[in-house]
Amino acid sequence: MPTEEFTYTTSWRPAPLPGGAGTVPPGPVLIVHTPAGRPLADALAARHRPDEVLRRELAPHRRESAPLPTVPRTVYFLAGEHPGAPGGALDTAALERAEEQGVRALFRCARDLLVPVAATRPVDWRIVTHDAWPVAGTPVTNPAAASLAGLARVLESEHRHWSAPVLDLGLGGRLPAEADPALPHLAALIAAEPAVRGAHAAHRGGVRHVPAPHPVTLPAPAAARLRAGGTYVIAGGAGGIGLETARLLARDHDARVVLLGRSDPGEELRRRIAEADPDGRHLLHLRSDAGDPESLRAALRSVHARLGPVHGVIHSALSHTPGLVRGLDEAVLRDSLAAKSRISVALAEVFAAEPLDFLVFFSSVQSLLGDAGLAGYAAGSAFQDSYAHALDQLLPFPVRVVDWGWWGTVGAASHAAVRRRALSQGFRSIAPHEGFATVLRTLAGRPVQVLAVPGEDVLLDRLGLTPRRREQPAVAR
Ligand SMILES: NC(=O)c1ccc[n+]([C@@H]2O[C@H](COP(=O)([O-])OP(=O)(O)OC[C@H]3O[C@@H](n4cnc5c(N)ncnc54)[C@H](OP(=O)(O)O)[C@@H]3O)[C@@H](O)[C@H]2O)c1
Repeated sequence: MPTEEFTYTTSWRPAPLPGGAGTVPPGPVLIVHTPAGRPLADALAARHRPDEVLRRELAPHRRESAPLPTVPRTVYFLAGEHPGAPGGALDTAALERAEEQGVRALFRCARDLLVPVAATRPVDWRIVTHDAWPVAGTPVTNPAAASLAGLARVLESEHRHWSAPVLDLGLGGRLPAEADPALPHLAALIAAEPAVRGAHAAHRGGVRHVPAPHPVTLPAPAAARLRAGGTYVIAGGAGGIGLETARLLARDHDARVVLLGRSDPGEELRRRIAEADPDGRHLLHLRSDAGDPESLRAALRSVHARLGPVHGVIHSALSHTPGLVRGLDEAVLRDSLAAKSRISVALAEVFAAEPLDFLVFFSSVQSLLGDAGLAGYAAGSAFQDSYAHALDQLLPFPVRVVDWGWWGTVGAASHAAVRRRALSQGFRSIAPHEGFATVLRTLAGRPVQVLAVPGEDVLLDRLGLTPRRREQPAVAR
């Protein structure tokens, strides 16, 4: 299938609230917030009968697991202060703080407070982030909050009576302080967001927006930003998709490709690398934990010594143990989240000073679908989608993110069980040469985020990817 037939991108379009919005059902209300979110929580509480409001304030190093005295009908989750440097820059320490009071706090709130009392009851969540998405030309300054959108989809998939719409406010990077005259208005916007499953909305400049994915035709691969004989680093390069990408970079572009992975290459991996690099001149495996900046720096020193400067970096790492939120150990969630979020941040931190032609993240459409069992993966993929936008504004080279559908012949999803599920959901497999062409087209194109999803209408409808009206090719800056 020609790649332009399965590539899409997302923009946000104005969408006034549907009629009948703004009714929070009667019954107990739980408000979860950080200390900085207290004024907004007060404004929300003021909209409800005092005897129906429960509150939980998230504090660093305090786990809030005392059972709720009553079952909430509505949950407001306010999280996502901006913990990094201005403009959306993050380091791994800032990411850790943001996830502790953001996506992991939402996970614990769902698993420890709501699941025990309301797993099979209707619960209307309203998950509130701010400045997390590139809406109406405003910059992404709070990408760490974006992961909540991925987790929200998973919570809905795992609880069919729950709705978890996500509302992203444009606050210029800061939650409103006490006595801010905007507080009642912001509380009214949050309460007015309808309890619709799968919904995502954002307010900017007084206008409500919703994401509008649409087909995009990207420039031909020939226009890609690859140098003949360039040096590229792939985090997760020894995995299925990473190694195919490395093989095609070497074969078609005479590239030197460094494959980063945590494991020692055993006999099987050495055989696969030798197959992908028959003359043994192009691929180099280095042991490195790409989520650890120190380990990445050591790898980069080694690359400099052997191959000179790096020209492009690809994130193709994955670490994932599926499990429903209700029984998920937080360490397992952290591990799959980190393979997406922490590695992306560490790569940007360590490679920002290299003369790169590009940095690309391999994300997943699970950021939008949020299938049951994929909490950390969906959350981390949503983070990558937003973080690529933040970095593309900040760094001197283009940053892109590809949200893959399904690769059925290589990689973590090529096993029989996953194949059956993917086909039944309407996915069609991406072949390695199609995937590689998509990467090249993405590098040549202007959209920061490209969704690459061959599939049946049932899947495309679920992702909101029809109708198939095409845009003109958009060439990179
Ligand atoms: N397969 C699909 O259909 C599909 C669909 C959508 C998106 N994607 C995305 O495509 C990318 C590649 O997927 P895949 O199917 O090729 O996965 P894969 O075969 O499981 O390979 C992932 C690789 O990541 C490496 N890795 C994990 N954590 C790492 C770390 N901290 N530092 C360095 N390397 C690390 C693993 O090696 P070690 O364990 O040795 O470190 C492994 O070789 C992922 O980002 C995934 O989310 C894939």
